[in-house]
Amino acid sequence: MKVFVTRKIPQVGLDLLAQAGHMVEVSELDRPLTRDELKQKVSGVEAILSQLTDKIDEEILDAAGKQLKVVANYAVGYDNINLKDAETRRVLITNTPDVLTDAVADQAFALMMAAARRIAESDRFARAGKYTGWQPFLLLGQDVFGKTLGIVGLGRIGSALAKRAAKGFSMRILYHDQKPNAELDAEIGSKNVEMDELLKTSDFISVHVPLLDSTRHLFSTKQFEMMKKTAVFVNTSRGPVVDEAALLEALKKGDIFGAGIDVWEFEPKLTAGLSELPNIVITPHTASATIEARNNMSKVAAENIIAALKGEVPPNLVKLV
Ligand code: GLV
Ligand code: GLV
Repeated sequence: MKVFVTRKIPQVGLDLLAQAGHMVEVSELDRPLTRDELKQKVSGVEAILSQLTDKIDEEILDAAGKQLKVVANYAVGYDNINLKDAETRRVLITNTPDVLTDAVADQAFALMMAAARRIAESDRFARAGKYTGWQPFLLLGQDVFGKTLGIVGLGRIGSALAKRAAKGFSMRILYHDQKPNAELDAEIGSKNVEMDELLKTSDFISVHVPLLDSTRHLFSTKQFEMMKKTAVFVNTSRGPVVDEAALLEALKKGDIFGAGIDVWEFEPKLTAGLSELPNIVITPHTASATIEARNNMSKVAAENIIAALKGEVPPNLVKLV
């Protein structure tokens, strides 16, 4: 059957699809396709292997045609896909959870460390030739070891971050989630608390929620004002979960100490003024960008397509809730 891959991904998954006997076309353009290009390319295919930069809605699904069985997103998040439109057309949606959990948790930890210890700022300072010798007050940051980490959204990635922080850095773990995790609580002494308590008492706050109507601008002026002035805020989830203008103000006014963001509200554009601030570390949506994670995401996306085209339930079927 025909599979269209909207952008080049690691070869392993493409090989699996070919070995399963499918006809695979990979977009030759090393950029996101326009709506028109996407509509044209998906016409007549049974499966689409999509990127989080592809908006998949009724227009694209209808352009594909009634034979379309599955859209396999090359990401754990799937806010780029309209699940209702897919369900109405009986198109299965899959994602790539688990295989990127550790990579993203590592990056969240790296951003915490980088913002707390002013690593990027120190690097810029050193490269600019500003170092004149050891100084008692040069680039002072915040301790990480033994501090309190507040995790908003304790799914796979949030839990993986919690374990790193508790076991490696003796941090006290607070979290806010609809579901408490008794097993994790027993293992590392974590505690599910109200959002306000988490915001007021955490030294580090890391966000791990999906982008939903209910999580859009979950962090805005009010939330930043509730945080400690010494707090470090980290976002590796989705940009629009944070009101970026409010984050800019909070960093400027000193409502918080620093921030590390891997996802931006208006990707690929950064809110004006953010890049001039010394106390934010910015990575370009690369939290899952390890060689291992990306190879595994390719494999998992292919396995989801192969199962769906056999008429089986794919391993990572996303359900409409
Ligand atoms: C990346 O943001 C992903 O959802 O996999
Ligand atoms: C999100 O989907 C996660 O894996 O935490």
